[in-house]
Amino acid sequence: MIDSERNDRDFDWNNNNENKIQISGENANKKTIKALSETELTAQGFTFFIAGYDTTSASLSHVVYYLSQNKDKQQILREELNALDTDFTYENLNQCQYLNAVIDETLRLAPPLASVQRECVRDYKLENTGIIIPAGTFVEFQPYVIHRDPELFSDPDQFKPERFLNPTHHPYAYIPFGCGPRLCVGMRFGLNMMRMCIAKIVHKFEFTLAPGFEVRVHDFD
Ligand code: HEM
Repeated sequence: MIDSERNDRDFDWNNNNENKIQISGENANKKTIKALSETELTAQGFTFFIAGYDTTSASLSHVVYYLSQNKDKQQILREELNALDTDFTYENLNQCQYLNAVIDETLRLAPPLASVQRECVRDYKLENTGIIIPAGTFVEFQPYVIHRDPELFSDPDQFKPERFLNPTHHPYAYIPFGCGPRLCVGMRFGLNMMRMCIAKIVHKFEFTLAPGFEVRVHDFD
């Protein structure tokens, strides 16, 4: 139902003429570049702090939490990391299948952005469902809810990194970074940062829940 093949340019969005720089001289008529206004620049900087810092730090806490509750999985991960015979690098951590599965499973159970929004800019027909979303409609979907749907993931509330070793789910059943043309721009950076942090701490430390620690789960129903 979601058309991820087309992008902003195909739809001719962002075609307002504000803040466009005209190129003069021999390059005139070749291209027009849109510049950012001061407000847009500030908003982008602010977004990078919120979207880039809070998401990654919350996810690292969730990884530690799930590993503390699942000591057997923590041990599998430690053994994978110990088997690397060089320092941790971008290349070798990328290849650590269990490490990546632990991150994927954590982001499935606890996606740090609980909802993603879109504004429908023109009437859109949802394939053969008979549903038309009128232009101007505000659409919101929750990765948390989709990720815990038992029709999409078996035992959805269980921490099972193994399900990501040979994943079979539909690509849009797993969307911690959103989807389509506006997918998280920092996804690869965020994943690399998490791989390095987790590798360094799990290699050196063992995590256990403090005695008497109780997790309060908020009900989304
Ligand atoms: C675990 C880490 C992260 C998660 C789970 C995450 C998740 C998301 C999600 C769900 C969206 C909305 C995507 C959509 O609307 O389809 C988003 C957007 C965004 N993210 Fe991330 N993010 C993470 C890390 C980062 C990092 C490290 C940065 C920057 C360094 C970043 C920068 C952004 C920006 C700028 C947007 C807005 C993009 C746009 O509207 O085009 N994110 N992120």
